[in-house]
Amino acid sequence: MQYRELGRTGWQISEVSFGAWAIGGSWGAVDDEESISALKQAVDCGVNFIDTADVYGDGRSERLVAQAIKESGKKIFVATKAGRRLSPHTADGYNRKNLNDYVDRSLKNLGVSKIDLLQLHCPPTEVYYRPEVFTILDDMVKEGKIQYYGVSVEKVEEALKSIEYPQVHSVQIIFNMFRQRPAELFFAEAKKRGIGILARVPLASGMLTGKMTSKSTFEEDDHRSFNRHGEAFDRGETFSGVEYEKGLAAVEELKKICPEDMTMVQFALRWILMFEEVSCAIPGAKTAAQANENFSVSEEPLLPMTKMDQVKSVYEQFIRPLVHDRW
Ligand SMILES: NC(=O)c1ccc[n+]([C@@H]2O[C@H](COP(=O)([O-])OP(=O)(O)OC[C@H]3O[C@@H](n4cnc5c(N)ncnc54)[C@H](OP(=O)(O)O)[C@@H]3O)[C@@H](O)[C@H]2O)c1
Repeated sequence: MQYRELGRTGWQISEVSFGAWAIGGSWGAVDDEESISALKQAVDCGVNFIDTADVYGDGRSERLVAQAIKESGKKIFVATKAGRRLSPHTADGYNRKNLNDYVDRSLKNLGVSKIDLLQLHCPPTEVYYRPEVFTILDDMVKEGKIQYYGVSVEKVEEALKSIEYPQVHSVQIIFNMFRQRPAELFFAEAKKRGIGILARVPLASGMLTGKMTSKSTFEEDDHRSFNRHGEAFDRGETFSGVEYEKGLAAVEELKKICPEDMTMVQFALRWILMFEEVSCAIPGAKTAAQANENFSVSEEPLLPMTKMDQVKSVYEQFIRPLVHDRW
């Protein structure tokens, strides 16, 4: 495993880290024992950073992460999130009382006295124009409840606005072969300010693994069933906002250019790591076998620039017209 700096935190984190949404819920049935074995496999591969949230399985993900870390006996950095417990999810809800309550709950779930990294969980755009919200986070740092804070965003413009706040240390954003716009302007701005970048949904909800077909089915409680058109949360979180059949057609083109000695999973993740501004990709994994494939990619060789150009042309032809200007 190779490690990269997470912005100005001074942490060296695994360049492929663990995304713990699926082990919490909203991805069909998951088995806690299997999830623990996926987390253990990740740690064995050298993963030292895990992304979770208070709402993933209503605390289930945070508790599994805490259990796996305890059993490993290692220092693993945990990034959790706050804000999505709000219903309705409004900018006004991002107030001192609510944020403190959410953080207290996460501290309990994680079994720690201080959260390593707290991220606002894709708040409404309005929140980025409320400096008082960031003052609340500054106060939490002073009180010792959290070490650092950052944001998880839907849109590039939110990412650009968030990094105007001097104590924002990280931005989590969708970045993958189907979501290339963050690399255009945001990455350079983030680098200038020493902001860590967490590339989420790196496999486009599993589509970039190449395993899906037009006959694939998903359980009712899997967001790949219930959020195809953004019915429950931002559409971009499911298959990166690309319409299913059109995504499959683009994946067929990517398969044609996938290096012979790589799987599609390795190709997709290695493509992300080619961007030096990215601190880490955070693929989700439900099983030890998935974890093993995902986290071994750090040992794969760099992609030649010709491959990067080929991916770009597939994006330009098949994906850009569908999503580029939406996020
Ligand atoms: N708003 C936010 O802040 C937000 C939103 C989304 C995600 N995230 C974070 O980003 C992380 C990653 O995104 P994501 O989980 O949405 O999507 P992802 O990483 O693109 O896809 C993960 C899914 O792909 C499948 N998969 C993973 N590795 C595989 C492998 N080697 N072979 C075959 N299939 C594999 C698994 O599902 P199946 O086996 O069921 O296909 C897995 O759950 C999340 O876990 C979460 O930590 C944050």
